[in-house]
Amino acid sequence: MACGSSAHTSSFLTLLFLFLSGVLVRGRDPFGCDPTDKTTNNLPFCRTSALISERVNDLIGRLTLQEKVRLLVNNAAAVPRLGIKGYEWWSEALHGVSNVGPGTKFGGAFPGATSFPQVITTAASFNASLWEEIGRVVSDEARAMYNGGMAGLTYWSPNVNIFRDPRWGRGQETPGEDPVLAGKYAASYVKGLQGDDGNRLKVAACCKHFTAYDLDNWNGVDRFHFNAKVCLFLFYFLFFIFFWSARADFFSRANRASSQVSKQDIEDTFDVPFRMCVKEGKVASVMCSYNQVNGVPTCADPNLLRKTVRGVWNLNGYIVSDCDSVGVFYENQHYTSTPEEAAADAIKAGLDLDCGPFLAEHTEDAVKQGLLGEAEINNALSNTLTVQMRLGMFDGTPSAHAYGKLGPRDVCTLAHKELALEAARQGIVLLKNHGSSLPLSHRRHRTIAVIGPNSNATVTMIGNYAGVACEYTSPIQGIGKYAKVIHQMGCGNVACGDENLFDEAIDSARQADATVLVMGLDQSIEAEFKDRTELVLPGHQQDLISEVSKASKGPTILVLMSGGPVDLSFVKNDKLISAILWVGYPGQAGGAAIADILYGETNPGGKLPMTWYPQEYIKNLAMTEMAMRSSPSKGYPGRTYRFYKGPVVYPFGYGLSYSNFVHTIANAPTVLSIHLHGRHGSQNGTVSGKAIRVTHAKCSGLSLGVQVEVKNTGSKDGSHTLLVFSTPPAGHWAPEKQLVGFEKVQVAAGGRRVVEMNIHVCKYLSVVDRSGIRRIPLGEHHLHIGGIKHRVSLQAATLGIIKS
Ligand SMILES: *[C@@H]1O[C@H](CO)[C@@H](O)[C@H](O)[C@H]1NC(C)=O
Ligand SMILES: *[C@@H]1O[C@H](CO)[C@@H](O)[C@H](O)[C@H]1NC(C)=O
Ligand SMILES: *[C@@H]1O[C@H](CO)[C@@H](O)[C@H](O)[C@H]1NC(C)=O
Repeated sequence: MACGSSAHTSSFLTLLFLFLSGVLVRGRDPFGCDPTDKTTNNLPFCRTSALISERVNDLIGRLTLQEKVRLLVNNAAAVPRLGIKGYEWWSEALHGVSNVGPGTKFGGAFPGATSFPQVITTAASFNASLWEEIGRVVSDEARAMYNGGMAGLTYWSPNVNIFRDPRWGRGQETPGEDPVLAGKYAASYVKGLQGDDGNRLKVAACCKHFTAYDLDNWNGVDRFHFNAKVCLFLFYFLFFIFFWSARADFFSRANRASSQVSKQDIEDTFDVPFRMCVKEGKVASVMCSYNQVNGVPTCADPNLLRKTVRGVWNLNGYIVSDCDSVGVFYENQHYTSTPEEAAADAIKAGLDLDCGPFLAEHTEDAVKQGLLGEAEINNALSNTLTVQMRLGMFDGTPSAHAYGKLGPRDVCTLAHKELALEAARQGIVLLKNHGSSLPLSHRRHRTIAVIGPNSNATVTMIGNYAGVACEYTSPIQGIGKYAKVIHQMGCGNVACGDENLFDEAIDSARQADATVLVMGLDQSIEAEFKDRTELVLPGHQQDLISEVSKASKGPTILVLMSGGPVDLSFVKNDKLISAILWVGYPGQAGGAAIADILYGETNPGGKLPMTWYPQEYIKNLAMTEMAMRSSPSKGYPGRTYRFYKGPVVYPFGYGLSYSNFVHTIANAPTVLSIHLHGRHGSQNGTVSGKAIRVTHAKCSGLSLGVQVEVKNTGSKDGSHTLLVFSTPPAGHWAPEKQLVGFEKVQVAAGGRRVVEMNIHVCKYLSVVDRSGIRRIPLGEHHLHIGGIKHRVSLQAATLGIIKS
């Protein structure tokens, strides 16, 4: 019998649906300490008035070894005798609540969630308060879905690996190639997600994948979206089939790569976003990666986990493995000879939670074989249980929680959708505007030919690690609000394998007042497991652009949708292409944001968070070559604007506006003295090599105060990002230049603003020597702010060098 074939069946289904969604809306049962469960609700670990550390110790003291080991995995088992339910730790919220990961699903009262632009686009806004605001909205929606029984409270986002190679399919997920930008993004987004209620967590975020991990990999289950609807067993089954088929190749690559990661690159590039995430963002979790660093798998390395993340950075939270990486270092990397040794090594190194079943299967035997003490398991559990307590999971009824009232009404609200639109507007980058062709005019440009494989994009606009969007505004819909649209695809898809649709596209360009070509990439070209092999546009896209531009009656504007950079040399100087916008993957409201910028409703202010290289850059460059620094003798070009000096299509930080902004230094010191700690002040050795060890300097409060006046000399109000770069005194350790601070300001047409920045000397003006030691080079540092330069001399205060 077909569903709904009779009136009775359909009304029955409607009632059933209403009943089920009523259940969902009413909320989930308590995870632990259910007030109605008289046998457990009086146990000491349920007492909300007690200290969390005491509650955690009490709970651990009640667990048997068998119960404990089953709590060491993402699919944590229930402990019914203590009134504790099972919990799925794995949820994702990279740029909106996502259904990648088994902890979250959509449906019922929660058909979708606000889908913000992909992170690379949001990073281009260089607006830290926007990043935090997005985090707040995402965690509102996440809490609402948790209350409705559809999501977890532990989100394995953001991804803060450095976008090191332009081909990387996951570069789109990251905040770009600069460590300070990525670190600031991480800290801001995490603060927004976790809330600012002291030790209490709204949701728990996670910075991943630690560390030196930015190769194509298998980690996500993005292509298994459909499995979110099937049972967990089938999910894992498919997951592992896929995993097994892919990992051999990946791990041989990861191993090769790992041998080349230098301590210097780790300290001044790869670790920076993680350190900032932990120390400034106070993140509740860090995920270790699959790869080895200097011969040790990151998830088995006590130096990385116990010493650095927990010890030096003082993580208040749990360390989780990337999915099945413990199994991987045993079975694929043959790092240990037995599975019990692998389990023991991981936990002893500081791992608290395993994504995958490995620790639940082998940890008990590891204890029995004497490889691991139960105290070490308790230590791991105290880290995970503390996070669950901070989330309020042991505080009884969810609806009594501070965020317990959030529900379906708080998801996809008008304000949230508006923020998704605002984020897209702020992230869009104007790359070219020949003869001020943009903005278009309402009066003169009434009919627009909108052409290209991304002209009707919807799902493409949300990139990967997304969920189900509330709704979409495609480019044709967005532009349709301003003008009459003549729509032509031009290419069947972004691969653009033939020219069959060219004629209609060319015709439409002849008829319209202006032409907008919406081109670029999608997940079929760049994705998890899919690095690009080229930087140029796929297939016949270039031909379509050039043929359409020749036929266009009015100006031709290229709108490029992509996560990674594209070699646009062919149109950069082509007079027939009037303007170019890079929109990244602009999220559910992308089309509206594009149209607002095209018509000048919004003045673009985004800046590129990564270098746009010409195609030649990758010609002889292996993606697995991890070194950041160039090596001219080996013909190695180096990576990112910090170390690569060759030609670029567009540099890091590039982006135009409909206004002009002029900078002048209002106030900045030219000399700065660095005081040394006690005994180092009298030791000549401290300054040998003309650089002071950061650990020897009195860093607290040591900052370079710079005031810059920004004048908007244009006729439109606009937002401008002040990027401050520094070039340290010459020396082999240092980058060419590096970002040391940024600040976004709104400046009215004709107006001026003084921006004050305090650049922390030890954090940002230091460089890293070959042994990975951070030092402050003495002598002249050059600050670059837009077109201006400022010199400041750093001197050691106690040695009398100032006189010389
Ligand atoms: C745009 O795509 C949607 C599906 O996402 C489709 O329903 C619609 O017909 C398309 N519009 C045009 C003009 O091609
Ligand atoms: C430091 O260097 C000065 C001059 O180079 C020298 O006279 C002095 O003895 C040195 N002091 C120490 C503690 O080495
Ligand atoms: C940064 O983003 C916030 C949130 O959208 C916005 O209110 C603010 O105006 C933005 N700042 C600038 C300078 O554009």
